[in-house]
Amino acid sequence: MTPQIGYGGDYNPEQWPGEVWDADYAAFKLAGVDTVTVGVFAWAHLQPAEDRYDFSTLDAIVDRATAEGMRIVLATPSGAMPPWLAHRYPDACRVDFEGRRHVYGQRHNACPSSPDFRRLSVALAGRLAERYGGNPAIVAWHVGNEYGGACWCPACGEAFREWLARRYGSLDRLNAARNTAFWSHTFTDWAQVVPPNALSEHWRGPDHTAFQGITLDYRRFMSDALLGGFVAEKAAIREHSPHTPVTTNMMGLYQPIDYHRWAPHLDFASWDNYPPEDRSAGRTAARMALAHRLMRGLRGGDPFWVMEQTPSVTASRDVNPVKRPGVLRLWSWQSVAHGADAVLYFQLRQSRGACEKYHGAVLDHAGRTDTRLFREVAALGAEFAHVGDALLGSRTPARAALLVDWDSWWAVELSDGPNRNVRYLDVLTSYHRALWQANVPLDVVPVTADLSGYDLVVAPLLHMVKGDLADRVTAFVERGGTFVTTALSGRVDEDDNAFLTDVPGPFASLLGLRVEETDAQRPDVVNPVTLFGREYDARHVFEVVVPADAEVIGTYGTDFYAGTPAVTRARRGQGQAWYVATLLDDPGVATVVHQALADHALLGPLADIPDVEVTERITPTGTRHLFILNHGTHHTVPAPVTGTDLLTNRHLRAGDDLDLPPTTVLVIRCES
Ligand code: GLA
Ligand code: ZN
Repeated sequence: MTPQIGYGGDYNPEQWPGEVWDADYAAFKLAGVDTVTVGVFAWAHLQPAEDRYDFSTLDAIVDRATAEGMRIVLATPSGAMPPWLAHRYPDACRVDFEGRRHVYGQRHNACPSSPDFRRLSVALAGRLAERYGGNPAIVAWHVGNEYGGACWCPACGEAFREWLARRYGSLDRLNAARNTAFWSHTFTDWAQVVPPNALSEHWRGPDHTAFQGITLDYRRFMSDALLGGFVAEKAAIREHSPHTPVTTNMMGLYQPIDYHRWAPHLDFASWDNYPPEDRSAGRTAARMALAHRLMRGLRGGDPFWVMEQTPSVTASRDVNPVKRPGVLRLWSWQSVAHGADAVLYFQLRQSRGACEKYHGAVLDHAGRTDTRLFREVAALGAEFAHVGDALLGSRTPARAALLVDWDSWWAVELSDGPNRNVRYLDVLTSYHRALWQANVPLDVVPVTADLSGYDLVVAPLLHMVKGDLADRVTAFVERGGTFVTTALSGRVDEDDNAFLTDVPGPFASLLGLRVEETDAQRPDVVNPVTLFGREYDARHVFEVVVPADAEVIGTYGTDFYAGTPAVTRARRGQGQAWYVATLLDDPGVATVVHQALADHALLGPLADIPDVEVTERITPTGTRHLFILNHGTHHTVPAPVTGTDLLTNRHLRAGDDLDLPPTTVLVIRCES
């Protein structure tokens, strides 16, 4: 095994006879595959009945992969329980938001609080580790699969009450946190607390709740409950496999799980990259970059893995376009450009039946290796082999940070008022896109991150202010940093209750203003905002700001607050704090972000070339690599550095013309 960027993916040979395995491995060699993920969803054949284990199939799979020199990612099968389990223990099935107990079906279907599911899944994880933990070909454990969803069953209700008792300590504290004086909700016994769903606090679906604090706590609890399953399986693995890293495949910008609460329990982060189709290739690329950075930020900037991506189509959407020529390569290198040390596929061979039979795979049903797709896969495999270990373990030091906070994401979208059309991800991605286009090395980190190493911190919709965050932000600004935040920030404390002070609460004095009123309008209502002499559209939320000592940078153009501040900047100590009191369109956001970056000379190379992405990674020994990725149309640009492209061995000199056709990838080892 030569160390290189891990390449391969999910492989379920249990679905095919032995002859197919020979053909598969011959094809994997051609494709440069060195990593296989096996055992995902294998429960029914590993344990055909509660009292019977059968490892014969997995033995054969693992033996063969080992003999072929593969690096093996061994999964525990708890992402899908077998029918016998659900039949014997109906309580292991989830109860949905409407209160209906499900029967057997689908996957990701187990109640995280079910003692039987927990016992059986943990026992199986332990047995797998006991049996295979000594095999040095196993490079990682992959627990479960894409943890997600939620359950509202009685066992979860009980576990929720215990979680609340641990969090609040007393009913008085719980009642205060919930503001239960409202609508006569004072709880006098823990047993009175029930999960918030369609039968209790909710109307019109999961985002509409009478008690936002209760629902917010349920989301926190459910994230922790699912994590409990991961942690328990990991502990069982650790008894037999003390050193092999343990991860699970996350889903990037996935709202139901607070990955920041999970991060400390992962040995490395990994995620599945299936970007939703966006309006343009550049927007899709920026969104993937955001998710990569979020994943990299989970473990303090350590390299992560792309555990899954499709080589061609994702079968689960209404319409499933194939990846255009060159796009697989471009997106795969983009993953590496943001810190991935492995880029794996779902899946190596296409499923024969059920809902993923048309999902893309390295090998199609016929197992052909003379297809466009296979050739692209193999060409990428050859590039990874060519680059070898040159990039492994590299990191991306950044002076700019974007804050992401699941509590704010949940709270702002659960809130009745000011505007249901405000979506956290829309605002986050808009600010991120501006940072992305500026090609600035960027960390995407939680609100608990140490801010002292940054020059710029951007925090859109920082709705909830927890702990000492406001003090840390203030100290960061006073030392010379620039802080940028937006409308609807600084509104609630960690219990989702309003601050009994001017908006934006703990940020008011830092920002040098107060928000007196918040106007909200339908999406078609635009209020033009003039900023540095140009006009931009603002929508959704228009805060009427009364400055104390903030400088007015932009003003509203219409309505009774025409001429009042829409964008402000306060100087504090050595630094400054921006407030964008409305939701600006993308060009408006870009103008603010650009100025904040320029103030710190942080604008990156080729920052003005649309959809050309530039990132950097620095190896453990200090070699700098610049990645240039063209997600847009043809450009010719001055080469931003002198160095050698690792993919072609071509030497480039800074300033020389550099031709960038669409889907170009350059990985330049810089000379400096
Ligand atoms: C997810 C799952 C895989 C597969 C793919 C299909 O990522 O983890 O098992 O279902 O989706 O896109
Ligand atoms: Zn449950």
